[in-house]
Amino acid sequence: MKRESPLDFDADVMRQMGYRVVDALVDYWQRLPSLPLGKCPDRTTLEDLLDEPTPQQPQPFETVLDAFLQKVLPNIVKVDHPRYFAFVPAPNDYVGVLGDFLTAGMNVFVGTWMVGAGATQVERVVIRWLCDWLGFPDSAGGLFVSGGSVANLVCLAAARQRYPDALTRGRVYYSDQTHSCVARAWRILGLREEQLCVLPADEQFQIPLSTLAEQLQRDRAAGWRPFCVVANAGTTNTGAVDPLDALADLCESEGLWLHADGAYGAAAILTQEGKQRLRGIERLHSLAIDPHKWLYQPMMAGCALVREFEHLRAAFRILPPYLQDKERGRGIDLCDYGVELSRNFRALKLWMSLKTHGVEAFRQAMEWNLHLARVAEEAIRRLPDWVIVSPATMGIVAFRYAPPHLDSEQADALNRALVEAMLQDGFALVSSTVLHGRVALRMCTLNPRATEADVLETVRRLHQFAVSYPRGEITT
Ligand SMILES: Cc1ncc(COP(=O)(O)O)c(C=O)c1O
Repeated sequence: MKRESPLDFDADVMRQMGYRVVDALVDYWQRLPSLPLGKCPDRTTLEDLLDEPTPQQPQPFETVLDAFLQKVLPNIVKVDHPRYFAFVPAPNDYVGVLGDFLTAGMNVFVGTWMVGAGATQVERVVIRWLCDWLGFPDSAGGLFVSGGSVANLVCLAAARQRYPDALTRGRVYYSDQTHSCVARAWRILGLREEQLCVLPADEQFQIPLSTLAEQLQRDRAAGWRPFCVVANAGTTNTGAVDPLDALADLCESEGLWLHADGAYGAAAILTQEGKQRLRGIERLHSLAIDPHKWLYQPMMAGCALVREFEHLRAAFRILPPYLQDKERGRGIDLCDYGVELSRNFRALKLWMSLKTHGVEAFRQAMEWNLHLARVAEEAIRRLPDWVIVSPATMGIVAFRYAPPHLDSEQADALNRALVEAMLQDGFALVSSTVLHGRVALRMCTLNPRATEADVLETVRRLHQFAVSYPRGEITT
């Protein structure tokens, strides 16, 4: 007796459902520049709107899709919006979106060669492309993971594995500009708080080399076993890049593993500015780089790259009996090189995207991003009472409104309030951070669809909100 799955649809119905989704998507992409950024309502509002018991009865797919479009989408701040300049924007490429759709639809498994040989090879090809851009040797390799946090974790696990006394006497070094996921990675990997040596960055937000060298000597004398330096290849705060070449010299002479968090910035190796700032990147032992940031791919896509691919295997491989069939010696089982066994085909989107556009299109898009940060910086410099805290660096500019009639605390409060004012306004968004002990705003101009006019109007609105502040409520 033929039995149909209760979850299946006729082929024609499947097509209609898919076309509805593509229509909604293309419509969204077309309208996005003229849409408000999106809302961030309070919890009760969204509980009232969305909470419901588990659906018992079927409803038409169109109704469900409409519920997403009408009730959910407006209540999301759109990180792919051309005027989303906050945190790290996430403008994605349409080919990448289709790549994700395809691989989800075919549920491609890339954990073992036995089951996912072709996909594994594509992943290796894409990883090789990244390694080639960066100048890594043939022995290098890596894998796709969910994003920068896991990419750093995977690389640092390989570092820890190389140093047998890492967990007892080991010490690691990085600047206070380093992303919090690095401290979290070390915590997960079992290092104690006192094993993390966080050095205050210098005026340029870079790790201070001579302080680091002195600290290493002091720590060795005190019985510590330094084993790893984590450099920044583009900080979240300001885009700062640590002096990678000089760090590589130091780490070489001290026998330390040099890792860099390039989740944000490493892809800028394709650009002029990136090449210059990232000099020495080819000497790293490991690197985190996120295609879902500056290579415009849909989340989730980070990459953990290591100079010696086999170091990942040494850190991660365990073979249980129920996986013995995969040991056929024909290829590479990527599940042996990281934390995930079930791995989806994250490389497909970047593979399709790079092949469809060609790398030159990416280079141009990134150069445009860098240009827009300079446009923002110049516009801010032209305004009275604004200071540039960190000039345009790798697509990020940091600045602060500091009129003479406000003391530092008042100016801090005002700068923080400007983020809220922009969010309420809905035209554009920037985010705030703390630099040199004071609140600063930052714009990250990562969206290739952003225009100069978008940037200039964002700066104009910021100024308008700022000057209206002391005389009462912020108004448009
Ligand atoms: C420099 C840097 N490192 C790591 C991360 C964490 O990456 P993810 O959010 O993909 O886990 C970020 C996120 O913005 C980042 O900017």
